[in-house]
Amino acid sequence: MSSKLSIDFVAVKDAGAGKPAKAAKSAGKAARKAAPASQPRTLVVFAGADVSFSAAASDLLGDSVETIRRAAASASFKGRASSVLELWAPEGVPADRLLVVGTAPKPPPASPAPTDHVSLGGYVMGKLGGRGEVVILFDLPEAPEHPAQAAADLTLGLRMRAYKFERYKTKKSEDNEPEGALDVRVAIADPAAARREAKSRDAVAEGVNIARDLVNEPPNVLYPDEFAKRAKALEKLGVEVEILDEKAMQKLGMNALLGVGQGSVHDSRMVVMRWNGAKNSKARPVAFIGKGVTFDTGGISIKPAGGMEDMKGDMAGAACVVGLMHALASRKAKVNVIGAIGLVENMPDGKAQRPGDIVTTMSGQTVEIINTDAEGRLVLADVLWRIQSVYEPEFMVNLATLTGAILVALGSDHAGLFSNDDTLSERLLQSGKDTGEKVWRMPLGPAYDKLLESKFADMKNVGGRHAGSITAAQFLQRFVNKRPWAHLDIAGTGMASPTTDINQTWGSGWGVRLLDRLVADHYES
Ligand code: BES
Ligand code: MN
Ligand code: ZN
Repeated sequence: MSSKLSIDFVAVKDAGAGKPAKAAKSAGKAARKAAPASQPRTLVVFAGADVSFSAAASDLLGDSVETIRRAAASASFKGRASSVLELWAPEGVPADRLLVVGTAPKPPPASPAPTDHVSLGGYVMGKLGGRGEVVILFDLPEAPEHPAQAAADLTLGLRMRAYKFERYKTKKSEDNEPEGALDVRVAIADPAAARREAKSRDAVAEGVNIARDLVNEPPNVLYPDEFAKRAKALEKLGVEVEILDEKAMQKLGMNALLGVGQGSVHDSRMVVMRWNGAKNSKARPVAFIGKGVTFDTGGISIKPAGGMEDMKGDMAGAACVVGLMHALASRKAKVNVIGAIGLVENMPDGKAQRPGDIVTTMSGQTVEIINTDAEGRLVLADVLWRIQSVYEPEFMVNLATLTGAILVALGSDHAGLFSNDDTLSERLLQSGKDTGEKVWRMPLGPAYDKLLESKFADMKNVGGRHAGSITAAQFLQRFVNKRPWAHLDIAGTGMASPTTDINQTWGSGWGVRLLDRLVADHYES
């Protein structure tokens, strides 16, 4: 995570009304005053269709507006979203560099443009470079309904885009950003209100970036015990963190989870995190459960070599749960939440689980192992069972990089949603639309469930060749009692997904924003 990014808000007095002249000058002064001579000073203003400016922007740019429009014409810059006009600041503009960022919707059938303010922030950060003093005049040609919230969203996008995972790069390549800090001030009419709004966005940005770090970490560094230790760090935010080792899990009868990890030199762990933020500390919690396979070789049913390194990301569900708990606790969400993750490494070994083995899960149901590569469901079976029996949560949402088949079905633009509850599903679908972390509901039903019947045990751990994501979900559902439950298959979205304005890294941190929004919109007291 780019630690050298600082963001604050400064006043643009009377922006959009009253005395724009004065407003604009205070933004200009901020740019001028804050800049040490060696640091490039950048001013960012937004333009609408045909390079139109807001009153405050026009005023700040003063006589340069005509020069800028001429430059725009020669560069074919029309003020459209996802386009930028970059200039050496004309005389009179209080900066060295001027970025005019377009906001007008592109005509169809153009590719999706950053119309929301989070993506806009990401786009701007992508144009800024790594150091210097920046003033973003947040006065849009099309004024947002809630400017303080929109400005806070912009900063969420700035922080998400600024993320980099460079822990293991010992050499700076020529392409790398020069050393230095990036100091951003967002000029807005009511900086105090924006600052208040931005607090919760900062919590979410941190949560996303923590999840990304976990997913990007290599599997020799991040094995189950190390992962558990990182989750333990949530204690400093007031989260209770309980770590169960193998002995504790044996006692509980979590043989499905333990069977997956038995071929690894790294012991398995389960971590239960608890945030009690509701007014009534006894109120039923909501529960989030994550698959945390820190590396998935496939086990004895070993995977092909090509691309196997990606299986370090097979803990993206667990990473999301940790990032989410961080976000909720650090913004002091008024809700009781359980986060639970099952942490194992799936390895081939003399001690590893075999196809043909039969394990007795914590629920008492037996499973015939057909394919040791269908391990995520075995881990989740025991964690789901444990969480619903101990905490009787309002709902359980689990996240798992569960099946390659969900990539075949949905690609990387939607996660698969499987649920026994229409209300929970509708809410997840809506939160997905609101945050851009989209989900698509897939069917469940007895005909699919039947595909799990086993000759020797209560069920086998794989269905047939067809409907692989659905049979995986049916398997999970056998470990859910009457509680509302949703399973998100994030194999396509949690890692190696295409880069966007707000995500340039391999481990996307997918799900933190979605579930933070779900909680914020429906479950806080
Ligand atoms: N972790 C994989 C699924 C996966 C695939 C995640 C690609 C991310 C990208 C999971 O454990 C797995 O191996 N699933 C098997 C299930 C099969 C054996 C029924 C699969 O998808 O092939
Ligand atoms: Mn697998
Ligand atoms: Zn897996």
